[in-house]
Amino acid sequence: MNKTDFDPKKIKKINIRNIRKFKKAGIKISVLTAYDYPSALILDEAGVEMVLVGDTLNTVFCGAENNLSATMEQMIYHTKIVKRGLNRAMLIGDMPFMSFQADIGEAVGNAGRFLKEGGADCVKIEGGLEITPTIRKIIQAGIPVMGHIGLTPQSIHRFGGYIVRGRKPEVRRYLLESAKALEDAGCFAMVLESIPADLGKEITESVSIPTIGIGAGNSCDGQVLVLYDMLGLFPNFEAKYVRKYENLSKRIHEAVSKYIEDIRNGDFPSDEESYS
Ligand code: KIV
Repeated sequence: MNKTDFDPKKIKKINIRNIRKFKKAGIKISVLTAYDYPSALILDEAGVEMVLVGDTLNTVFCGAENNLSATMEQMIYHTKIVKRGLNRAMLIGDMPFMSFQADIGEAVGNAGRFLKEGGADCVKIEGGLEITPTIRKIIQAGIPVMGHIGLTPQSIHRFGGYIVRGRKPEVRRYLLESAKALEDAGCFAMVLESIPADLGKEITESVSIPTIGIGAGNSCDGQVLVLYDMLGLFPNFEAKYVRKYENLSKRIHEAVSKYIEDIRNGDFPSDEESYS
């Protein structure tokens, strides 16, 4: 398949079958996070292929110190409201810390909640080789799984912080083996987070399923960013890989300051903004 045989705009609803075609045709996949209905509406209309309700909502949306305290209830609530804004994009629910690590049965049950209660099309799970038995069971239950390796934020305490993964030969080997294992386990795609660009390329070329990079270089089959980071709406986070397409914090600050000024000087509301 080449680019001319495949027109993503003709796809009415993205699913795990047609997402593979993007890789085959060499067309890059765009993914963004959303935690709320208005954002979901805009992303879907703009044409991203996948929308991720990431556990970053715990930090970016709720102001927590890290993602670890995100709960299933929070994740399902936000998945449900994002779902209301989507027509075409595939909806990914992110399995939060300790919703799948301790027990396989519990993991399958929690993954099922994302589809049954949240309306998600699939789930994303952090982890490599060690998590593949759980992934297999979830897929056997009929739930598509997106893998996630590299800097997996649910393991920051094990890694000793938010550090680029895969620079040491043994970690690089582990990540390459994990990528193959995720593909063998049946994942339909995988996120590669904060790894050297040459490793992102090697993994992408070694698996047949799409790789979605975040800080993993330009060779991945697609890219994902946290929406509020790329819009410049979340002031507490800086990363080399975030391209800021907007500075919404500044623009909102200016708008609110103008509103306060207009009220103080009696300019708002005007006669046109008042009822007779
Ligand atoms: O939780 C999240 O938003 C994520 C992306 C950054 C990939 O996992």
